[in-house]
Amino acid sequence: MVALIGRDLLSLADFSPQELQELLQLATQLKSQELKLHCNKVLGLLFSKASTRTRVSFTVAMYQLGGQVIDLNPNVTQVSRGEPLQDTARVLDRYLDVLAIRTFAQQDLETFASYAKIPVINALTDLEHPCQILADLLTIQECFGDISGLTLTYVGDGNNVANSLMLGCALAGMNVRVATPKGYEPDLSIVEQARAIAGDKTEVMLTDDPELAAKGSTVLYTDVWASMGQETEADNRLPIFQPYQISEELLSLADPEAIVLHCLPAHRGEEITEAVLEGSQSRVWEQAENRLHAQKALLASILGAEQVLS
Ligand code: CP
Ligand code: NVA
Repeated sequence: MVALIGRDLLSLADFSPQELQELLQLATQLKSQELKLHCNKVLGLLFSKASTRTRVSFTVAMYQLGGQVIDLNPNVTQVSRGEPLQDTARVLDRYLDVLAIRTFAQQDLETFASYAKIPVINALTDLEHPCQILADLLTIQECFGDISGLTLTYVGDGNNVANSLMLGCALAGMNVRVATPKGYEPDLSIVEQARAIAGDKTEVMLTDDPELAAKGSTVLYTDVWASMGQETEADNRLPIFQPYQISEELLSLADPEAIVLHCLPAHRGEEITEAVLEGSQSRVWEQAENRLHAQKALLASILGAEQVLS
């Protein structure tokens, strides 16, 4: 079992390469049911943005571990009426065993975590989406076995998913290339962090040339062009991002064995074509399933779940 008891997951950089590797191994064991774990704890979900996968996979993961989940919709709590985060954090801390938060500002998540003694998990902020990347790396590992030395190319908006992918790939010993239009690059402090983790072993490359980035790559990855909170920019972004669509043409530049990932929800005809999303190289449904296994491993490790001996 990975030694993560009581730890927060605010950024993927909170993990060491070894902790990440052990977490993926635990997820594999849980998925194959080679190992069964139990923990009778309570998870709170405090989500200020929409969610299908993260909400449901966390809920099912907790149920399968023998725990309970409380959906703390901000609209039906005092959060939406302006109760300070510091106060909410110290109160929820006394009821729950672990809290997953989906919000806008990373700073709000960090404030929450600094006031709550229980573990706090980043279930997506504007800056990062670490739980998504656990599932992505698990999927890549299932497809290729040893993932160190592989190259992942992310094409599109330099958003939360791109930021966490750079950290995740660097921690996993993978090369990562991020192709975005100029002005839409990933967060530069995270680029620096990823480069520091990668050292001279692997590459963290930024470019505005999607074809250069896709060439010979083992994994092509994309996400929406306008994230939650950027809805008013969506129309203006369409022409800017059009050259960054994952199409059959772009995919043909990648390694012939390459797989295509997308965190979902997808906008067919925008960041990815229908043919690629539904094509033989797409692994998006396996990727979505792996949210469950990866987060179950995360919860079990953070909460110190016990092995069920049969
Ligand atoms: N990929 C992802 O986080 O999906 P949801 O927004 O549906 O949770
Ligand atoms: N970048 C997207 C990811 C959704 C899962 C967003 O933040 O809306």
